[in-house]
Amino acid sequence: MFRPQVHIIATCISILQLLHPSSATQDDLHYVNPLIGSTSGGNVFAGASLPYGLAKPVADVDGQNTGGFSTDGSNVTGFSHMHDSGTGGNPSMGQFPLFPQYCPDNVVDNCKFPKTARAVHYVNDSVTARPGYFALELEGGIKAEMTAARRTALYRFTFPERKAENGSLLDPLIGIDLTDLWDSRQNASISIDHDSGRIMGNGTFLPSFGAGSYKAYFCADFAGDAAASDSGIWVNDRAGSEPKELFVTRGFNNFYLQAGGFISFPRPKDGVITARVGMSYISSDQACSNAETEMPNPGNDFQKLRDAAEDAWSEKLSPIKVTAGGVSDSMLSAFWSGIYRTMLSPQDLTGENPLWESDEPYFDSFYCLWDAFRSQHPFLTILDPQAQSKMVRSLLDTFKHEGWLPDCRMSLCKGWTQGGSNADVVIADAYIKNLTGIDWELAYKALLNDAENEPLEWSYEGRGGLQSWKRLNYIPYLDFDYIGFGTNSRSISRTVEYAYNDYTISVVGKGLGKTDYTTYLSRSMNWENLFKRDQASYLENGTDTGFTGFFQPKYINGTWGFQDPIACSALASFCSLTSNPSETFESSIWEYQFYVPHDMAALVKLVGGSDSFVSRLDYFHESGLADIGNEPVFLTVYDYHYAGRPGLSAERAHWYIPRTFNASENGLPGNDDSGAMGSFLAWSMMGLFPNPGQNVYLIIPPFFESIDITHPETNQTATIRNINFDPTYKNIYIQSAKLDDQPYSKSWIGHEFFTQGMTLELTLGDQESDWGTSKEDLPPSLSDSLAQDEMQRA
Ligand SMILES: *[C@@H]1O[C@H](CO)[C@@H](O)[C@H](O)[C@H]1NC(C)=O
Ligand SMILES: *[C@@H]1O[C@H](CO)[C@@H](O)[C@H](O)[C@H]1NC(C)=O
Ligand SMILES: *[C@@H]1O[C@H](CO)[C@@H](O)[C@H](O)[C@H]1NC(C)=O
Ligand SMILES: *[C@@H]1O[C@H](CO)[C@@H](O)[C@H](O)[C@H]1NC(C)=O
Ligand SMILES: *[C@@H]1O[C@H](CO)[C@@H](O)[C@H](O)[C@H]1NC(C)=O
Ligand SMILES: *[C@@H]1O[C@H](CO)[C@@H](O)[C@H](O)[C@H]1NC(C)=O
Ligand SMILES: *[C@@H]1O[C@H](CO)[C@@H](O)[C@H](O)[C@H]1NC(C)=O
Ligand SMILES: *[C@@H]1O[C@H](CO)[C@@H](O)[C@H](O)[C@H]1NC(C)=O
Ligand SMILES: *[C@@H]1O[C@H](CO)[C@@H](O)[C@H](O)[C@H]1NC(C)=O
Ligand SMILES: *[C@@H]1O[C@H](CO)[C@@H](O)[C@H](O)[C@H]1NC(C)=O
Repeated sequence: MFRPQVHIIATCISILQLLHPSSATQDDLHYVNPLIGSTSGGNVFAGASLPYGLAKPVADVDGQNTGGFSTDGSNVTGFSHMHDSGTGGNPSMGQFPLFPQYCPDNVVDNCKFPKTARAVHYVNDSVTARPGYFALELEGGIKAEMTAARRTALYRFTFPERKAENGSLLDPLIGIDLTDLWDSRQNASISIDHDSGRIMGNGTFLPSFGAGSYKAYFCADFAGDAAASDSGIWVNDRAGSEPKELFVTRGFNNFYLQAGGFISFPRPKDGVITARVGMSYISSDQACSNAETEMPNPGNDFQKLRDAAEDAWSEKLSPIKVTAGGVSDSMLSAFWSGIYRTMLSPQDLTGENPLWESDEPYFDSFYCLWDAFRSQHPFLTILDPQAQSKMVRSLLDTFKHEGWLPDCRMSLCKGWTQGGSNADVVIADAYIKNLTGIDWELAYKALLNDAENEPLEWSYEGRGGLQSWKRLNYIPYLDFDYIGFGTNSRSISRTVEYAYNDYTISVVGKGLGKTDYTTYLSRSMNWENLFKRDQASYLENGTDTGFTGFFQPKYINGTWGFQDPIACSALASFCSLTSNPSETFESSIWEYQFYVPHDMAALVKLVGGSDSFVSRLDYFHESGLADIGNEPVFLTVYDYHYAGRPGLSAERAHWYIPRTFNASENGLPGNDDSGAMGSFLAWSMMGLFPNPGQNVYLIIPPFFESIDITHPETNQTATIRNINFDPTYKNIYIQSAKLDDQPYSKSWIGHEFFTQGMTLELTLGDQESDWGTSKEDLPPSLSDSLAQDEMQRA
């Protein structure tokens, strides 16, 4: 849906703009390409969805199928209705796939039922992926198209004519498999009503990165010209018209029986058979009523539903307008697609939560907050503050009913905690940005719970080692922790994350007038206790990196332990919870060394001042130590701001974009993680980067001539405009800036920029300048503001 719009800001047409006329801005849905990141580990969901939709139909493949589909050349095993996007590890959901086919001679036993038997390649170049629509053609000629409402998937299968040997027409058959993507099914049921053609069922499955199990329910209806010709169940590779019901479970040896149902129809003249699949986490009846309400006329309304999905996406993207200024379509595509992916997950499961009764919204697939707190939730805060507010309310409602804020959550289950309790940061970010509708007293209670109470299972909620945290002011290496249970690793990364979590708690506490905020402010300085001043760092071949002073693990007795600063970096082996667990999680000491988001000034000082900090940061990015494919790296791209070198942040952003983030199908350097990578790209190209939990956006020039962002609640439009914009990106250094026509020398700006709709005009040049370099223009740091308080008191 194209909605061309010409933006002429009458007062600001400069001679330069006349010399470089820019293309008209537009509502840019057509730039969105859901296939970006569909191979080489991006793991994005490439199928049809509404913003935050529960129903997410796509073709599932037998290759890299974490998000269902992949353009890795693997084969299609079916079409399923729910997915996560961009996650790592085990594939998520993908229950009850449909698989259309013909049975030779119309003999059902001639059809291919088990997953590996029925897998079939798709016709290359037949894939169409658009917001709200996905289609491909299977080898053999069956075409599959799909669209989605919130909880219902709609498929249109077009069967080419096929004849039996005696010349009679074959009947199209659609199978349903009682499985999910990684065969985690515990037990499942299916029942087929031959006369109405309705198939219902349910099953118990395992979350892909969490504890426990969950039940999912479906209700499938088929619209063709005629009544079903046959229906029944299948088990392994045998099928029969009777019985019409089946229950499967895992035996004592955990045996996995492949089984499901099928239905066939005389081929309609146009070959089209529509399948409407309602989903629910409550019951099959609710799955049916979801489908009936959301898609009352499945046979006729495919196009209408597809249009509605597109409109929903257009509406979500509408606050942002870009004037490209000669930038390539592929850069625009990378940008808009990144934004699009930030709204695939979390998923709005309001009305579908079987775990507790509540009038509050319920969102799921916070997968994981460790990834998303850094830039995705801040992005939703500007683009869709109402949704972000509902997500925060959902986190708080989860705290209320399950006792803890989620850290990672998927499929109604608690997911594994990777570092700190980073819901704290999401909540603090919402607080300082004045999101509305949130019970802040409840929020503070939830935050204090994270900071004060150690749960029995800190592998999936809260924090571990809290006794040591309070007593020693760091998380010790090989802690003596008998209170709760979790993977006793990551002492360094947990220390720096807990410190920042506590900082954000102090921000909320102070704002709410709580006197105990000082406790958390003081704990926020705990990161310093793991800084070992004389720690050197060598590369694997023995070369001295030349930098001294790194975080190191520390025993309970205060003696230093040792972890090689380059261990767990992109130059060494990967460290996760289960593979190679170390004192840093999924990144090196080198990378975590920069993680002091609230007091970068203190860190800069500790490593020897600005120049030394900058050469360390350069070395980190250029030596291969930085892992651009994982979220902890994000803020390091912009850390130059804190050393008074905002021009180098711009340089660094351009160094990574488009080289490692681009519009190719392999255009993501790592898992998209529910849109976290997409949000990094979107913020970077917009020319602002959030330091979440603080009222701070770090400024670089946008990658476009100008960009407008209208705040969906205040309706005020914020504008960032580049003067001397150069689409070849030689002029990427800010020479001077004006905010609402007044000179502006700070290298950062607050959230008021968006809510009040200010205009930031950046004059660019091809060399670093002294803009944003003086001490008072640096983004805020805790030690600076404490020093100021001190001075004021004196
Ligand atoms: C289709 O693409 C796959 C993966 O790129 C390739 O292996 C295969 O040869 C292609 N098939 C045809 C018919 O071009
Ligand atoms: C042709 O073969 C099919 C499948 O074997 C069978 O169902 C059908 O009755 C046959 N039709 C005629 C006209 O013999
Ligand atoms: C994919 O399916 C085709 C048939 O369409 C088959 O020839 C091929 O071996 C399958 N590839 C894999 C990797 O299973
Ligand atoms: C299904 O599996 C779940 C998880 O293993 C189990 O709790 C439940 O009792 C099973 N239900 C039936 C009916 O077997
Ligand atoms: C699951 O589905 C089967 C078959 O439709 C049905 O008999 C059973 O009651 C369902 N179980 C639940 C818990 O809804
Ligand atoms: C939030 O609201 C407070 C009180 O009205 C105001 O002082 C502050 O500037 C607002 N913050 C932002 C980021 O808009
Ligand atoms: C060690 O590795 C670094 C980075 O690859 C390289 O620059 C350096 O020359 C190597 N030194 C030796 C002694 O091989
Ligand atoms: C501290 O504890 C570690 C680990 O048990 C031990 O290796 C070290 O010798 C101890 N240091 C002192 C001073 O006791
Ligand atoms: C696009 O990004 C991917 C992933 O980082 C990278 O491998 C690829 O080389 C990039 N492509 C281009 C053309 O820069
Ligand atoms: C913003 O615009 C919407 C839609 O036109 C309107 O409903 C709303 O009242 C406006 N809000 C403000 C604060 O003006």
